[in-house]
Amino acid sequence: MAQLSDRVQTFTDSVIRRMTRISNQYGAINLSQGFPDFDPPRELTDALARAAHDGPHQYSITFGAKNFRDALAAKAEKSMGRAIDPETEIVVTCGSTEAMMCAMMTICNPGDRVLVFSPFYENYGADAILSGADPVYIPLVPPDYHFDPELLEAGFREGAKALILCNPSNPCGKVFTREELTLIGELARKYDAFVVTDEVYEHIVFDPYEHICMASLPGMFERTITCNSLSKTYSVTGWRLGYMIGPADVIEAARKVHDFLTVGAAAPLQEAAAVGLAFPDSYYEGLKQLYTEKRGRFLAGLDRVGLKHNVPQGSYFVMVDIQEFLDLPAFSGMSDLEFCEWMIREIGVAAVPGSSFFREPVNNLIRFHFARGAETLDEAVRRLEKLKSYT
Ligand SMILES: Cc1ncc(COP(=O)(O)O)c(C=O)c1O
Repeated sequence: MAQLSDRVQTFTDSVIRRMTRISNQYGAINLSQGFPDFDPPRELTDALARAAHDGPHQYSITFGAKNFRDALAAKAEKSMGRAIDPETEIVVTCGSTEAMMCAMMTICNPGDRVLVFSPFYENYGADAILSGADPVYIPLVPPDYHFDPELLEAGFREGAKALILCNPSNPCGKVFTREELTLIGELARKYDAFVVTDEVYEHIVFDPYEHICMASLPGMFERTITCNSLSKTYSVTGWRLGYMIGPADVIEAARKVHDFLTVGAAAPLQEAAAVGLAFPDSYYEGLKQLYTEKRGRFLAGLDRVGLKHNVPQGSYFVMVDIQEFLDLPAFSGMSDLEFCEWMIREIGVAAVPGSSFFREPVNNLIRFHFARGAETLDEAVRRLEKLKSYT
């Protein structure tokens, strides 16, 4: 029998998306895979209806439709503090998922070391394996998810092609400070490495924290590949629209990788989504308010139930500590994955086991997201109250 490649033996399917499937099977409230259960802005769906009738319906330019890239450049220059050339510095991709993979395939040779903060969004492990890179993990230490600058410098010193930075971070909700970003940038310059950033939660940041684009720091545009997406900002995770922004020589190479991977993102969706990119600042302020309310509501619910959790600075995820349950005889020896499966069946709420994000042997954290309507969040909390009866 012909054999499959070695590379597919080295990673599993996504635990996050597996939890969604199990959640659906048991009809649980799915707070595992992070996506909103509410509609995108009406302007986008109206524009999509127009595109359905008027087109375009054929391939767009492989690296992105011109009007979409123009709109992206105009939006991105605000956060990047410089003009972005839509002709040479942008590739439109199928979500940030493709952007990250494309970035890794563009810069990594087999065996190149890539620094990854742990906990990390699980795609980065597979991105590294598929691009042949060797991930080197730098711990972000709970509960405040700080990193040790000396460990980070040691990672760069031992030879790193790039560092992957998820800011704001999924799963831990960390928003990197200007000081932290400056330090990372200095090390990247000192040791001549790229920084690949995943900034899909750039607009979901809670006061007083502020998202700072790595590429906006002095001397960093030249070595930063910014990956981003419309998925979270406009509540269109199914539209699969993302992009990379970076220096022209990197983007020229990335466009080749992207072209042969996917040819391009869906043309009618680019047409429709361009409307959102032109929204005024008030839209992003509204989005922040919306998620600030959701965070407040869900975290207050967790407090009522008596579950220990961190307070995310950004993104729509919260990590909950389940150690007190694992210490009980009824749960003795359970892994966090088994606890999450049990919780889906018995409590009716789905979360993601923290071990799928940590390189370190962490078994006591699970991740919930709160991108759900108020009633759903309230019902999830009501169900979680049942946990009390086990303590
Ligand atoms: C950090 C992070 N990056 C990327 C993605 C996927 O983004 P996209 O839908 O643009 O592929 C997600 C989705 O949950 C995410 O949390």
